[in-house]
Amino acid sequence: MGRRGFFICVEGLDGCGKTIQTKTLVERLRKKGYDVVYTAEPSHGKIGDFIREYCLHGEKRVSSIVEALLFAADRFEHVKKEIIQALNEGKIVVSDRYVYSSSAYQGAAGLDLKWIEIINEHAMRPDLAVFIDVEPETVIQRLKPEKSVMENLETQRKVREVYMKFVENGELTKINGNRSKREVADDILTVVLRLLEKGRFMKP
Ligand code: TMP
Repeated sequence: MGRRGFFICVEGLDGCGKTIQTKTLVERLRKKGYDVVYTAEPSHGKIGDFIREYCLHGEKRVSSIVEALLFAADRFEHVKKEIIQALNEGKIVVSDRYVYSSSAYQGAAGLDLKWIEIINEHAMRPDLAVFIDVEPETVIQRLKPEKSVMENLETQRKVREVYMKFVENGELTKINGNRSKREVADDILTVVLRLLEKGRFMKP
């Protein structure tokens, strides 16, 4: 087994700029000489593809229990096949969404947060979990007409409430997403570099 890498996940409401920020972070870390893997959930494995078709872009929302179990199953394979392998090779892994999305979205749908935690027990804790905070009203205006089943104001408000619980207990690091892309990206990079340097994470 190689040395341990560094695992970061980026969380937020749909339309908060998470994907662009995750990709920007990966590019900026690479430019600084780090070996970085970009990944996302739902994954691009078979279960992730099935989730997109069956849960996200179906006619109506499926049972939240089914959603939670499918996301947990997808995460199990994602962690085992992609994340752990890259970390064992000493890489930095940056994931666009991770286990906090299950707590936030399936928790917002009414499921017990403890149960969500139990079915995700296999999902290792990230070294850093960033939450890009944007008001639900703002993200709803940004979303495209071909919305997924999660993208309505009421759902996004409840999702943010759950995310904020994790901010309050210190598991998520909140970044103010109501600013220019550049400012948000600068803030995220500062937080990440501070942690990498504090942990004396070595470049390859
Ligand atoms: P995204 O690809 O735009 O991030 O969208 C994925 C959608 O899936 C988003 O609405 C959040 C939702 N989701 C969950 O409900 N639970 C989860 O565990 C994950 C990873 C995503």
